[in-house]
Amino acid sequence: MHIQIFDTQAELDASAANLLIDTVISKPNAVLGLATGSTPIGIYAKMVEMYRKGEVSFSGVTTFNLDEYVGLKPYNDQSYAYYMNKHLFAHIDIPDTQTFLPNGMAEDLDAECVNYDKMQVLKQIDVQLLGLGHNGHIGFNEPDHALSGGTHVVKLKEATREANARFFATMDEVPEYAITMGVGSILKANSILLVVRGADKAEIVKQALTGPITTEVPASLLQTHPRVTVLLDREAGRML
Ligand code: GLP
Repeated sequence: MHIQIFDTQAELDASAANLLIDTVISKPNAVLGLATGSTPIGIYAKMVEMYRKGEVSFSGVTTFNLDEYVGLKPYNDQSYAYYMNKHLFAHIDIPDTQTFLPNGMAEDLDAECVNYDKMQVLKQIDVQLLGLGHNGHIGFNEPDHALSGGTHVVKLKEATREANARFFATMDEVPEYAITMGVGSILKANSILLVVRGADKAEIVKQALTGPITTEVPASLLQTHPRVTVLLDREAGRML
């Protein structure tokens, strides 16, 4: 694991964006695994800025997002599809046909999960961007006595719904279920970029990176992957 700690958010965002952009520059048809939440917003802004300066084209890139809420339409402003358009896709030259998120509105959710995994077998993810939940979740893989390998439907923990309630008008509107790539799907990526900010994540960062490998801290399974880069701000890295 390669761990780097940054003093400023701007440096952290630039470093993460550079890593993703370098992948695209060296491989114009790269496959990027993308994440949502508050953590990647500055990274996507930096990527858009670099695209506008003509430093990179995304025309040959394919993206797969980690997860999506069940029951939110893509134009619902809390859906991850909406988030991705707002923060990245609408501002760069990636064709719509090359951006994939799990369809949380699918009539047959299990078939949707199988299909999402099949697409990723055809297109190997080069770099998977990840954030970290307060309970150690990655994507929406919640702590449990066992974890699913592939893409699956998950019932969100109350703590996760509460953490994400800040984005919704009321707690009742926070979906109870999501579709997420499994830890197995995540670990198949050629390389992984984990980005974490904030003092409130310092303890879980320590557990995930230096504690025992356990399904009760899903991010601890990243310790088994040979090519993981972890970018932290000072606060998130203060217990390492
Ligand atoms: C959500 C997402 C995760 C994300 C996590 C942390 O639960 N499903 O992919 O990493 O939140 O979000 P934030 O970056 O806002 O702390």
